Amino acid sequence: MNLEVKNKSAYIENLYWRYATKKFNTAKEVQEKDFEKILESLQLSASSYGLQPYEIFVIKDQETREKLRTAAWNQSQITDSSYLIVFANYSKIEESHIDNYLDNIAKTRKKSREDLAGMEKMLKNTILAMSAEEQQIWASKQTYIALGNLLSATANFRIDACPMEGFDNKLFDEILGLDKMNLTSSVIATIGYRSEDDLLQYQEKVRKNRADLFHFI
Ligand SMILES: Cc1cc2nc3c(=O)[nH]c(=O)nc-3n(C[C@H](O)[C@H](O)[C@H](O)COP(=O)(O)O)c2cc1C
Repeated sequence: MNLEVKNKSAYIENLYWRYATKKFNTAKEVQEKDFEKILESLQLSASSYGLQPYEIFVIKDQETREKLRTAAWNQSQITDSSYLIVFANYSKIEESHIDNYLDNIAKTRKKSREDLAGMEKMLKNTILAMSAEEQQIWASKQTYIALGNLLSATANFRIDACPMEGFDNKLFDEILGLDKMNLTSSVIATIGYRSEDDLLQYQEKVRKNRADLFHFI
């Protein structure tokens, strides 16, 4: 191991255990009750301002996955995992997205919309003032926070996952009809259990050493 295990906590050990799975075991399905925990983890992901400017597609349908696989360099994880997750951010952030969010805060925290007037002004003045490209980049970044959360959560539950950017975003949008929903795919993940033939699981983890990674000021 080129990385020294510094902290023997279950969390850290699970992060060593996880790896970007290349070959899933098609005979072993993630149980629904376990998958529910992953969904709940995703729902709890942090996002800038809390807006969650994205929606998440859970794809089980095999026919759809076969089509998507052809748009993802034929990577086998797309069809052989238990679940394919597509993170799709808003293409354009509308005023209604912000209003819906504020309504949710008001309802959940038993406040009136007037109580949230300052927040409304701040959110609308910043987010709606972004250019289309800035909105797109910002919204897409938020999906990666959810992706990171998914990777930690799955590791914690000892379920395997592969984060994936190797797909044609335009074709994915077309196949899933995202372009008609003001959404665009940003990143995907596949979830399942590793095949014992996946040799990558037996390889050492490769990471920058601490001196190259951290600056302490
Ligand atoms: C955003 C992102 C996109 C990735 N895209 C792919 C991909 O398309 N296909 C794949 O097999 N692995 C993909 N990976 C896996 C990385 O290659 C892998 O995480 C990295 O080499 C570190 O190894 P580890 O995750 O096994 O520790 C991706 C990882 C991330 C975080």
